[in-house]
Amino acid sequence: MKKLVVLSGAGMSAESGLKTFREMGGLWEEYDVMEVASPDGFARDPELVLRFYNERRKQLLIAKPNKGHLKLAELELFFNVEIVTQNVDNLHEKAGSSKILHLHGELMKSESTGDPNLIYDIEGWELNQGDKCEKGFQLRPHVVWFGEAVPAMDEAVEIVSTADLLLVIGTSLNVYPAAGLINYTPLNSPVFLIDPNEVSVSAFGKKIEVIDDIIRII
Ligand code: OAD
Repeated sequence: MKKLVVLSGAGMSAESGLKTFREMGGLWEEYDVMEVASPDGFARDPELVLRFYNERRKQLLIAKPNKGHLKLAELELFFNVEIVTQNVDNLHEKAGSSKILHLHGELMKSESTGDPNLIYDIEGWELNQGDKCEKGFQLRPHVVWFGEAVPAMDEAVEIVSTADLLLVIGTSLNVYPAAGLINYTPLNSPVFLIDPNEVSVSAFGKKIEVIDDIIRII
């Protein structure tokens, strides 16, 4: 089976009712990204940051995978599908996809502020001040913030560089290093893009085919 790599972003989950970041009415219009998604913001006002992610988690708990997530899971009948997602939601998992790499972390997990290797599942939607890891450190969302390294990046590069096809869905490709992944696609592997809006994308001169339905790549 050919290897189909999917790079997904917030637009993938838009039809499940989760807001994107940079569109009109998106999350970064409502919130200051450096206040709610940076280590400095968390140091300044942990309450605000925890509340921001609690709100995201509350919405995720009632969200369902949409047709796009479900079709990607179905594509496993035809391809060896590997999903590299910038999304912190768990809708690819809920749709039944089996190989998912979360580049920017996972909303339903917490991480120790004193030992990043200590990661826990969150039951329900709340993570609060006073919630601590087994070593007694405060827990934070297991999400990559601006200014932090992306630990899964090496694995993502390996996945993309062995793709027979790359499908990019619902990302403005504004955030690096994730946006640079496209450049690792092998020279002869086609790149497809699904997005209702124009996305400025260059993959070292590679032609990118804009399509309107996942099924068109079969
Ligand atoms: P953006 O909000 O930057 O981009 C969302 C993209 O989805 C846009 O190009 C939209 O046109 C497109 N879109 C909207 N509705 C869609 C639909 N129904 N189907 C397909 N596409 C649709 O989100 P990302 O590119 O994912 O990081 O943002 C990347 C990172 O920036 C996020 O992971 C997050 C954010 O700050 C962190 O929080 C670390």
